[in-house]
Amino acid sequence: QWSMGSFIDEQVERIRRQVGDKKVLCALSGGVDSSVAAVLVHKAIGDRLTCVYVDHGFMRKGESEQVKATFSGKFHMNLVFVNARDRFLSKIAGISDPETKRKIIGNEFIRTFEDEAKKLGKMDFLVQGTLYSDVIESGTGTAATIKSHHNVGGLPEDMEFQLIEPLRLLFKDEVRKVGRELGLPEEIVTRQPFPGPGLAIRIIGEITEEKLNILREADAIVLDEIRKAGLYEFIWQSFAVLPSIKSVGVMGDERTYAYPIVLRAVTSDDAMTADWARLPYELLEKISNRIVNEVPQVNRVVYDITSKPPATIEWE
Ligand code: XMP
Repeated sequence: QWSMGSFIDEQVERIRRQVGDKKVLCALSGGVDSSVAAVLVHKAIGDRLTCVYVDHGFMRKGESEQVKATFSGKFHMNLVFVNARDRFLSKIAGISDPETKRKIIGNEFIRTFEDEAKKLGKMDFLVQGTLYSDVIESGTGTAATIKSHHNVGGLPEDMEFQLIEPLRLLFKDEVRKVGRELGLPEEIVTRQPFPGPGLAIRIIGEITEEKLNILREADAIVLDEIRKAGLYEFIWQSFAVLPSIKSVGVMGDERTYAYPIVLRAVTSDDAMTADWARLPYELLEKISNRIVNEVPQVNRVVYDITSKPPATIEWE
């Protein structure tokens, strides 16, 4: 029986030895991997760790607030919370090509992170939440490229860090156990994967603040109902997508002309292939009713019943 407690103790020892009295930087995304890595390093070296969280404005409802409450509030970590919403929104305005969106967001993320890092002065180490699966996948192309946005793989060459990767030998389920042992909230420990560019690649076509608000509300309802149904942990990813089209509906005696929301929920082991989740009709009905009743600007909900391949999990 492999013990999480002894893993944590060993890593803490190791990180202390590696870091000495130097300073450590961490790019925190709020995902499981970077969260567990950050808390583990914090346990080892406390205030010599500074975490930078960049809110690009494409996060889900309540997500940034939760990061603040958890890392700043609960764990008393040095957290630099960067509100870069306007910066990203103005850069992304008018762009509808998916790969261009990714590129712009990836570049802007690195720039924002770099700006903040410079303000902090000399940092010697960078924490990364690399897992065993990332180690294996790196070099195989797609996976590594996809990850690079999120894992700040593309930092400029004049920013030199030694890496601290305490989760390098762990699988995802082991990382979750370590996270629990370290006292991270269940919401973070069990979190479904979320793409680095966030809601920006779940709005099909041009991104506006209005569309972001619509999608954020609809997405929160999807997750809320899936959690209430007890299905969250059995589903690989579940979310809402907002296509930039409108359709006709009727409400009372009024004709409406509003956005549809696409509901996407898939089961998967590794995101390479995925199957659409056979959600109960009652749950689909509840999600649909709540979205059209609670989110103005939405008059229709459709369910994506395509597997991967030939579709991808995301719509962009
Ligand atoms: P697809 O849509 O290709 O997604 O089936 C496979 C997995 O990768 C995630 N994904 C991304 N993650 N940056 C990321 O960090 C991205 O640009 C990106 N695109 C897709 C997706 O959510 C799924 O888990």
